[in-house]
Amino acid sequence: MELKRRVGYEAAKLVKDGDVVGLGTGSTTHYFIEKLGERIQTEEINIFGVPTSFQSFFLGRDLGIPITTLEEHDVDIAVDGADEVDPELNLIKGGGAAHTLEKIVDESASLFVVIVDETKIVSELGSFPVPVEVIPQATRTVKEHLIEMEGLPKLRMAERKDGPVVTDNGNFIYDVKFNIKNPKKLETEINTIPGVIDNGIFSQIVDKVIVGKDTGIEVLKK
Ligand code: 5RP
Repeated sequence: MELKRRVGYEAAKLVKDGDVVGLGTGSTTHYFIEKLGERIQTEEINIFGVPTSFQSFFLGRDLGIPITTLEEHDVDIAVDGADEVDPELNLIKGGGAAHTLEKIVDESASLFVVIVDETKIVSELGSFPVPVEVIPQATRTVKEHLIEMEGLPKLRMAERKDGPVVTDNGNFIYDVKFNIKNPKKLETEINTIPGVIDNGIFSQIVDKVIVGKDTGIEVLKK
């Protein structure tokens, strides 16, 4: 928790007065958004937030961050968490089932910064299953395609609700174990399956990763 707070607060320093900021989703970006709310109060900076989920929308709004959309503004800087980061700064995201909108907002940003604690740094992606958002009508057919691609799909089940997780977009999530040799290729191939909205591999779009370690902060760049 402490490392997540540290990287969240560190990333908040990168936001400048006048910026339009992509508000990532998850427990790490919670601290980033919290600090932005504090900076608005204490430094009176003027910023707008573009949420990547209902979670970041509600948090940002409650902390007094003016909210806007991609229809109205370009994003100067997006800050988001990740479930895995490899040495080429490819990511797996979607532990919170928000990867579709996260990818849209993060990719559109002039600067995309990822904040993680050191447990998320891996030598190769794939210990964490790849989240795949699927329209409910394609649940069976997408599963068959994923198995043909040598994935092991598991429908994500909800907690404190019976049945599957339903995303912010009204869809289901498969968590798919893959042996990932080429993240870019796999990201593209999964997205060609009819009924797939998007998957949680983010290849080659990160500008900077801020890693929280017991010994301090390390910054990884492309
Ligand atoms: C949500 C995400 C999150 O950014 C990712 O799961 C990391 O979350 P946390 O900061 O809670 O570990 O991709 O869809």
